[in-house]
Amino acid sequence: MARLPFFLALCTGVLALGVAATPLVVRDSPVTIPLARHINVTGSQNVLARDRARAKALQTPTSNQRWPGGVDFPVSDFVIAYTAEVLIGTPPTSYTLLVDTGSANTWIGAGKAYVKTGSSVDTGRTVFIIYGSGALFGDEFTDTVKIGPLTIRNQSIGVAEETFGFPAGIDGILGIGPVDLTAGTVSGGGTIPTVLDNAVAQGLFRDEIIGISLEPSTCQGTSTNGELIFGGIDPRRFTGRLDFVPITSTSPSSLYVGINQSITYGFERRTILPSASGIVDTGTTLILIPSDAFSEYQQATGGTVDSATGLLKITKEQFACLESLFFHIGENTYEFTANAQIWPRSLNAAIGGDAGSIYLVVADSGDSSGSGFQFVNGFTFLQRFYHVFDVAGGRAGFATTEFTHAMTN
Ligand SMILES: *[C@@H]1O[C@H](CO)[C@@H](O)[C@H](O)[C@H]1NC(C)=O
Ligand SMILES: *[C@@H]1O[C@H](CO)[C@@H](O)[C@H](O)[C@H]1NC(C)=O
Ligand SMILES: *[C@@H]1O[C@H](CO)[C@@H](O)[C@H](O)[C@H]1NC(C)=O
Repeated sequence: MARLPFFLALCTGVLALGVAATPLVVRDSPVTIPLARHINVTGSQNVLARDRARAKALQTPTSNQRWPGGVDFPVSDFVIAYTAEVLIGTPPTSYTLLVDTGSANTWIGAGKAYVKTGSSVDTGRTVFIIYGSGALFGDEFTDTVKIGPLTIRNQSIGVAEETFGFPAGIDGILGIGPVDLTAGTVSGGGTIPTVLDNAVAQGLFRDEIIGISLEPSTCQGTSTNGELIFGGIDPRRFTGRLDFVPITSTSPSSLYVGINQSITYGFERRTILPSASGIVDTGTTLILIPSDAFSEYQQATGGTVDSATGLLKITKEQFACLESLFFHIGENTYEFTANAQIWPRSLNAAIGGDAGSIYLVVADSGDSSGSGFQFVNGFTFLQRFYHVFDVAGGRAGFATTEFTHAMTN
């Protein structure tokens, strides 16, 4: 049963998109929300330290009960972040929120203060969340939330009193991960319906499905170059077949958009990461793999670990010989090209690198393999593949796009 509605969305996708262009007609049709990509090249930030801290926090989901001590999170800015404009209140105020599949609460107050209106209701409860790269503490409200053409009423939002580790220009987070991730984040216990849960419950669209399309990032500043679809997928955004795998049963990856995958290098299919469980995450920049897998990758590429960035650095000659990585997910193999494996060279300064050097985005998680959380496919992966999180169906989808083989970096 769960598959049928999705199939319909797939087959009628092109038609339904025409409908989505008329914002008021949202029932049963995909709802498109433009994503903006912010790139901050004004400072040099340790993207690896930030991604590792986030992965640590994601691996210990109970860490949000350990306030105020116990978790070590560096206050570091994002180099690149994908955000959506979200309107809250009546009349509404616009907030710029990070789009995060690794968490499920929606909250504001990191940047712009909450403007309370007639639709704001203080629930009297408190909110506390740790993200690894940041944390927030504040009060829960319910309010009317507008995302693209959707108007979601009575949505729980966190209003931060204190936040740590969120960059300028970001007001909070739009959490689109599984609802169970909200457990323990609000005083009084229980889970908090996500924006998706409420949108479906309020009949705004039928299928709890998210389609994510991100484009590679090479230019400084903010521009619209991604797209989030609620309730369906956008067949114009991918070129190959969209195939699904079940969310992994391995804990703690099973709490997130968790999948099983293995990784090989080159056409001789040298094993980098044997079959493992991990997650796909829009809130992580790099692709993190365990130390032993990373050491295989380092040998395959011939790179050296750069002390400034923590990333593998390769010479121009090594880059010329760099072969594709292959991500084996379910029955499919997704080719991650040599160009996809390098950090955009125009953004080297933003990660503390030299302008003339070549850095790789596949990095060492610092963990040994064997756990139930062995890798994170961050957005450098998602910039090359279309990704679907079918919440109701408990599965994740991937497809090639026009960027899969693009030479953008
Ligand atoms: C960019 O990074 C610098 C240095 O880390 C930081 O001071 C600044 O606030 C950041 N700007 C934005 C818009 O995030
Ligand atoms: C608003 O949502 C909360 C759960 O987040 C629920 O307990 C409450 O009944 C809802 N109120 C209305 C008016 O729908
Ligand atoms: C994923 O891998 C784990 C560990 O090998 C295995 O138990 C599980 O059946 C695999 N598939 C899914 C969908 O979890």
